[in-house]
Amino acid sequence: MTHLLDIDDLKKSDITSILKFAKEIKQSKIGGKTQPLLSGKTLAMLFQKPSTRTRVSFEVGMNMLKGDAVLLDPSQLQLSRGESLSDTTKSLSLYVDAIMVRVIDHSFLQQLSSTSPIPVINGLSDKAHPCQSLADLLTIDETFGGFNTHAAWVGDGNNVSNSFARACSIMGIDLTVATPKGYGLSAETLSILESSSISLTITNDPKEAVSEADVVYTDTWISMGDETTREKRLSDFSGFQINSTLLEKTEASVMHCLPAHRNEEISTDVLDGNRSLVWAQAENRLYAQNGLLVFLLNPSQYVDI
Ligand code: CP
Ligand code: NVA
Repeated sequence: MTHLLDIDDLKKSDITSILKFAKEIKQSKIGGKTQPLLSGKTLAMLFQKPSTRTRVSFEVGMNMLKGDAVLLDPSQLQLSRGESLSDTTKSLSLYVDAIMVRVIDHSFLQQLSSTSPIPVINGLSDKAHPCQSLADLLTIDETFGGFNTHAAWVGDGNNVSNSFARACSIMGIDLTVATPKGYGLSAETLSILESSSISLTITNDPKEAVSEADVVYTDTWISMGDETTREKRLSDFSGFQINSTLLEKTEASVMHCLPAHRNEEISTDVLDGNRSLVWAQAENRLYAQNGLLVFLLNPSQYVDI
């Protein structure tokens, strides 16, 4: 059983297949001849936190390939009245083929996947955002013609950056990470990066981080759940904004997973400017979900278009 709790649940060859599916489905969509690759398949979706892109790209991604998606309201499930996770996942597996969940606490996802007879996909937790990483890799592949490139993360060592860093280590993307002191990547991610073959630099200096980068990536300084520390974070992240002054000596492209807090972690002119890959990334969420869903639910029926 393949569950996707973090990006390193996938091997390099799995990611290569998912990206291949994603690119072919994108081309077929643009050419107006999408195949019914998920016909008869249903995805259950459960969100404990808000979502725009993940929510819509998974549902549209299923429907585009003639599958279905069912949105579950956590407060309306018997789980909210104490039904066990194993009884819940066993029942769901009688109706649907996979469960995608956005959770407050990563350990809930681990418990859910440990009891689930069908694949569980992490649609974001406090620790990881692997589906975002797939769209990020697709965007880098399209932009640079592969992964022989150097990325810089500038900002918080959060869910998005931990998964992105692991994705870089799997695909061989050199990485520089600049965070304020106390906001670094997790010890587990650092240990994975240190044992990988990529060139890795860890710094607290955003200027150093962007100087050699082909692509600079950031995310909000105040993730969902961090709101009570907003003022402290705004102060601690001072100097980490991605703006035209920080980028003046580079030609690096810019990524952001969205939602952006304009003129906090990224200036509006850079977000909307010609370096920005942000809208390609957002669009690629759809095709990355397509590729992942075909990989998990129907890999053998995939035919080249
Ligand atoms: N990037 C991302 O996951 O966006 P949503 O929170 O809108 O799903
Ligand atoms: N780091 C952000 C990502 C949102 C997609 C958060 O967790 O809120």
